[in-house]
Amino acid sequence: MKENNLRYIIETWGCQMNEEDSEKISGMLKSLGYSPTDQREEADIIIFNTCCVRENAEQKVYGNLGMLKKLKEKNPNLIISICGCMMQQEGMAEEIIKRFPHVDIIFGTHNAHKFPEYLNRARQEGKSIVEIKQKDEGIIEGIPIDRKSDVKAFVTIMYGCNNFCTYCIVPYVRGRERSRKPEDIINEIKGLVNEGYKEVTLLGQNVNSYGKGLEEDINFAKLLRLVNEIEGLERVRFMTSHPKDLTSDVIDAIAECDKLCEQIHLPVQAGSNTLLRRMNRNYTREKYLELMKEIKAKIPDVSITTDIIIGFPGETEEEFEDTLALVKEVEYDSAFTFLYSIRQGTPAAKLENQVDEETKHRRFNILIDEVNKIIAEKNKKYEGRILEVLVEGLSKNDDTKVSGRTRNGRLVNFEGSKDLIGKLVNVEITKAQSFSLIGKIVE
Ligand code: 5AD
Ligand code: SF4
Repeated sequence: MKENNLRYIIETWGCQMNEEDSEKISGMLKSLGYSPTDQREEADIIIFNTCCVRENAEQKVYGNLGMLKKLKEKNPNLIISICGCMMQQEGMAEEIIKRFPHVDIIFGTHNAHKFPEYLNRARQEGKSIVEIKQKDEGIIEGIPIDRKSDVKAFVTIMYGCNNFCTYCIVPYVRGRERSRKPEDIINEIKGLVNEGYKEVTLLGQNVNSYGKGLEEDINFAKLLRLVNEIEGLERVRFMTSHPKDLTSDVIDAIAECDKLCEQIHLPVQAGSNTLLRRMNRNYTREKYLELMKEIKAKIPDVSITTDIIIGFPGETEEEFEDTLALVKEVEYDSAFTFLYSIRQGTPAAKLENQVDEETKHRRFNILIDEVNKIIAEKNKKYEGRILEVLVEGLSKNDDTKVSGRTRNGRLVNFEGSKDLIGKLVNVEITKAQSFSLIGKIVE
């Protein structure tokens, strides 16, 4: 496609789903002849792809939108657009237009594929376009994707979530679960392998529900086995799994299939049964720990990572201690820890016994110290070992080094040049750091 000299910048908040949506918007713009820039001042189109899972993500968007006013005054032809999960909340689009009238286009998570059409309309009509849909019009295949990495790619296998955890806004802004057809997924991955990609991460809010509602006789374990057959592909990861739905056949698939990496992201959220019930998680601490035992027994060297929320309404000291004890027992390889954030429209937002900020922060700090101690101890055990690393790029801040990941997801930095990018190499770990490993390549 011929270049039209117009430039765009997409700034993305939130999870991998949003990252992938941004890669699609970028892919569409590139195929229309636009080119990317990383400077807002140079851009003809600025797009914010937003997240609303926690309040601080929203606050950042407001701050950034305010900053764009000056740019619009300098360049009245600048198109400012905002999209993503935050826009799917009731009344949000109207509020944004009221507070930030310099915004030109607002759209949601269900109609991102229509962005080029909205762009044309905004230019022609010269007024703000607001298009939010409550449901998608079926899964749209074939949108060009402009991926950030040349080595690893995200591949969405399903959209939405049916779980309605009481703290979470996602089911309200991403809609109900729907799966892509297996052949569409397999064809996309084969195409990626042809382009030279070595690793895919299969994405969904709850990948273990994959296949429900499709005509094909398929479930997540079967899909994993199909993906494992793709020639030329080296590594497969997936996220996110829900502990209530992770089945033994998925664990067996990871244990048996050579391309499936030994890594499971299994958000626990809390370690106390009373908290888990109030969160509507539908599993108990005991069931979760049993799952851990099965995973660790069947998959040697497995990494288990998690998400934990601190300060859910009514969280008592005892409930917090249960979470802390579970973290010590599981010995996570990594954990994302979050302070509970009230999300309007969710059941937990209506609860009256919110935990005060001081208590939340105190517990949060205790948890983080514990998590970090465990991660450092676990990393230390890798010193002296030789591990297979897929090289992803040059190291940050040091271009005499490259960085990549082990099969179980650990970040490794070692001396090497950019010719190694995309290659699988054996690396001897010489030193463990708090959150990464240092090594040297071995023949
Ligand atoms: N407050 C804090 N953390 C939350 N998460 C989801 N909703 C909230 C909330 N209201 C966390 C969960 C989820 C991760 C993506 O975000 O831990 O797994
Ligand atoms: Fe939110 Fe729960 Fe669905 Fe995860 S499973 S997206 S936490 S509702």
